[in-house]
Amino acid sequence: MDKRQINRQELTNIADTLVAGDKGLLAMDESNATCNKRFAVLNIPQTEVSRRDWRELIITTPNLCECISGTILYDETIRQKKRDGSFIIKTIMDAGMIPGIKVDTGAKAMAGFPGEKLTGGLDGLRERLKEYVTMGARFAKWRSVIAIGEGIPSRACMEANAHALACYAALCQEAGLVPMVEPELLMTGDHTLEKCYERTEEVLRTVFNVLYLHRVMLEGMILKPNMVISGLGCSKQATVEEVADATIKCLLQAVPAAVAGVAFLSGGQSGSLASAHLNAMHVRRPSQFPWPLTFSFARAIQQPAMEIWQGKDANITEAQQALLHRAQCDRAARRGEYSEVMGKACV
Ligand code: 13P
Repeated sequence: MDKRQINRQELTNIADTLVAGDKGLLAMDESNATCNKRFAVLNIPQTEVSRRDWRELIITTPNLCECISGTILYDETIRQKKRDGSFIIKTIMDAGMIPGIKVDTGAKAMAGFPGEKLTGGLDGLRERLKEYVTMGARFAKWRSVIAIGEGIPSRACMEANAHALACYAALCQEAGLVPMVEPELLMTGDHTLEKCYERTEEVLRTVFNVLYLHRVMLEGMILKPNMVISGLGCSKQATVEEVADATIKCLLQAVPAAVAGVAFLSGGQSGSLASAHLNAMHVRRPSQFPWPLTFSFARAIQQPAMEIWQGKDANITEAQQALLHRAQCDRAARRGEYSEVMGKACV
């Protein structure tokens, strides 16, 4: 086998492992600014030490690896050590979870397109990816942020973000990292479920066209999409079943069967609603999905635990129980066994 074939096989193996069985992923890759914003609401000090303590709490949660196959880190975290002096990334690997890394540098206002954003981070990416591989990362994440509103998203926004995602994904595969491709349509706005469906389908079709153009190997990538959901300000909020059916229909239309897996973001949904939606998809599946369908949540897993922790050592154990509980709920949802009763059991 030549090097290219070996690389393809390795990528496929990592991607398949990340979405295997009933596990999912835990996103803990908030930028310092975003993490600080969440800390500020809870009066937690916005310091490097607090961010380290929070991430240490997460990855030392007992039995987390029973529900979580991989965790996504931020640049600060992949370089950080725990209080005992050992690297955070080593603890993740020792627990049998696969470490990943967010590699985009954030979404900035798109010139000429008010209200729209373009994600950056391609400059110097090849070199950064090499370093992350040396540190132990096996997959990466890049998030595009797409708003729904009057006349948006524009074709220009969809295509510019799709090109960035495809360039990033190709560089990842060259480096031996599985790209997690995240085109997120935001929940903010008063759009209907139907509008979210239309725009999500258009964005996904655009993304996969450009991934094809850039020769991205679909078996060696994971898609991280939004669920198809009513805007937060929409007067008619879709039911759990409507969200599940619309999301499945949309993905079946637009996501090639060769993709290794689909792992949803939570996007600001509460933990219990995100679990309920994922559960309903698995209960109501109109046919077998061509790809494993799982979770890659940040807020929907972390939020209740962070509210309990409040930056205090005395609350670590209780916070870890809440974190594990949310991860267990999502794992149950993947099996179609989640219930509201289970969701309320601990937090
Ligand atoms: P949320 O689940 O909080 O939307 O975060 C997922 C994520 O990784 C955002 O990039």
